[in-house]
Amino acid sequence: MDITQIFRNNQNWVQEKLSVNPNYFNNLSKGQTPDILYIGCSDSRVTAEELMGVEPGEAFVLRNIANMVSNTDLSVMSVIDYAVTHLKVNHVIVCGHYYCGGVQAAMKSADMGILNPWLRNIRDVYRMHKDELNSIDNEEQRYKRLVELNVQEQCINVIKTAEVQRAYRDREFTVHGWVFDVKSGKLIDLNIDFVKLLENIMEIYRLDLDGAENLVAKPV
Ligand code: CO
Repeated sequence: MDITQIFRNNQNWVQEKLSVNPNYFNNLSKGQTPDILYIGCSDSRVTAEELMGVEPGEAFVLRNIANMVSNTDLSVMSVIDYAVTHLKVNHVIVCGHYYCGGVQAAMKSADMGILNPWLRNIRDVYRMHKDELNSIDNEEQRYKRLVELNVQEQCINVIKTAEVQRAYRDREFTVHGWVFDVKSGKLIDLNIDFVKLLENIMEIYRLDLDGAENLVAKPV
């Protein structure tokens, strides 16, 4: 790749934006009020803004290998806190994708070095859903299902945080689990029923917040 081309691309992009609105960048400099936090995979094929068709300023974005929401990852925990508490986003999206190399690596018995602890979180998802996954004979289908279940478990990790539990209490707030299909370009809403999913486990994760008894786990 010719890196200097990137700067030419940038110049073209600046001109394009300014030709439509001379104040475009001036307006951007005034601040951001995104309504969504997108947590997705670092995979170069899964470009958050482009696949969602959103403009600069509309989405707060975090991408890491296999869109993980790890409880001890200071980066993702800080991003959630900042987006939910300070930017006051009303939607948190965890977006996985089929043909995810991270998920595929977690299905193999291989020593991946520093990636071992990271991918172990996906192996834990496999363990939690072992019966369902092992009942799928077709390997590609099993792999796709693990991508979906990983999204589901990472959404649950989002809901375990105090910031998100507070947001559920205080405003119209939604967590979404999506998958991007690299093969078709389509974005798929997994329509995860968190009320049902959390029915029996929310008592474990509910934090002691004033007036938070009507959290996501309880049908309203
Ligand atoms: Co991926």
